Amino acid sequence: MKAINRIYNLYSFYIKNIFNLRVLKKIKKEFDIQNLNTTWSNLDFIIQQIPNFNQNFYIVHKNYREIEHQVGRYLSLKLAFQDIEKNKLQGDIIEFGSFQGLGLLFINHILKESKIKRQMFAIDTFEGLPESSTIWQKGQFNNTSLDKIKNNLNNYFTNKEYLNYNIIQGLFSDISVNNILKKQTKNVVFIHFDADLGSSTKDALSVVEEFIMNSNNKFIYFQFDDWGCHQDEVPDAFYLWKEQIQKKIKLDFIKLNSTNLTRLYKIIIN
Ligand SMILES: C[S@@+](CC[C@H](N)C(=O)[O-])C[C@H]1O[C@@H](n2cnc3c(N)ncnc32)[C@H](O)[C@@H]1O
Repeated sequence: MKAINRIYNLYSFYIKNIFNLRVLKKIKKEFDIQNLNTTWSNLDFIIQQIPNFNQNFYIVHKNYREIEHQVGRYLSLKLAFQDIEKNKLQGDIIEFGSFQGLGLLFINHILKESKIKRQMFAIDTFEGLPESSTIWQKGQFNNTSLDKIKNNLNNYFTNKEYLNYNIIQGLFSDISVNNILKKQTKNVVFIHFDADLGSSTKDALSVVEEFIMNSNNKFIYFQFDDWGCHQDEVPDAFYLWKEQIQKKIKLDFIKLNSTNLTRLYKIIIN
């Protein structure tokens, strides 16, 4: 009987510890992933990593949400600008939702050897999201400011001879923001929509309409960040706009790339 008890005790000791080890391993993995997501949200860290960004790096890291997001959107931007440069398209760049400037710095890095003169426009209130909706909270992304983005762009911006940036502070729907933008550029070739909310994306898309109508180019490129965050936000706003604009002008939409969170369209203006 004693022997059976001993075997039983040993057995349950072994099972308990195996279980604990599994729990500990799981906790450690979650902790590591959380740490990774924090590290991969830091602008200075990400900028240092850019030289490693390629398809292989993407495939190896694609199960880590924030790495997949950053590397995926960088590779999509690169694909868009390769196509723009290959077609020798003139035109400026607008980003709706610039936060601390990372999206603009990605584009700057991609265009570091470009010899086509372009202006980049960054539009943002720098006060965070203007409202709560689905997964988003009002005020989210307010850990920035005009000084902060200027400082980041000053630190990392290169190719200043051919590229320059203009920051416009305000809501996308603000008429004075629109007037400033339309005074400074007439021809736009690439638009980065990075404002998370469907309502903000809708406002941005209505600003863009005039640039499509007056475009000097045959193509215009749209990249949506946050496409995969919630279907009721960016995708719904885009599909509704697409339906309405096609009643006014004939456009063809080519999906050039998709990542878990982003989507890139090449739009043919007929
Ligand atoms: C996710 S952040 C942008 C991230 C940035 N493009 C990057 O690459 O790191 C979203 C930004 O959109 C801005 N935003 C959202 N809706 C807006 C609106 N309707 N008008 C102006 N800014 C808006 C917020 O203030 C916030 O800074």
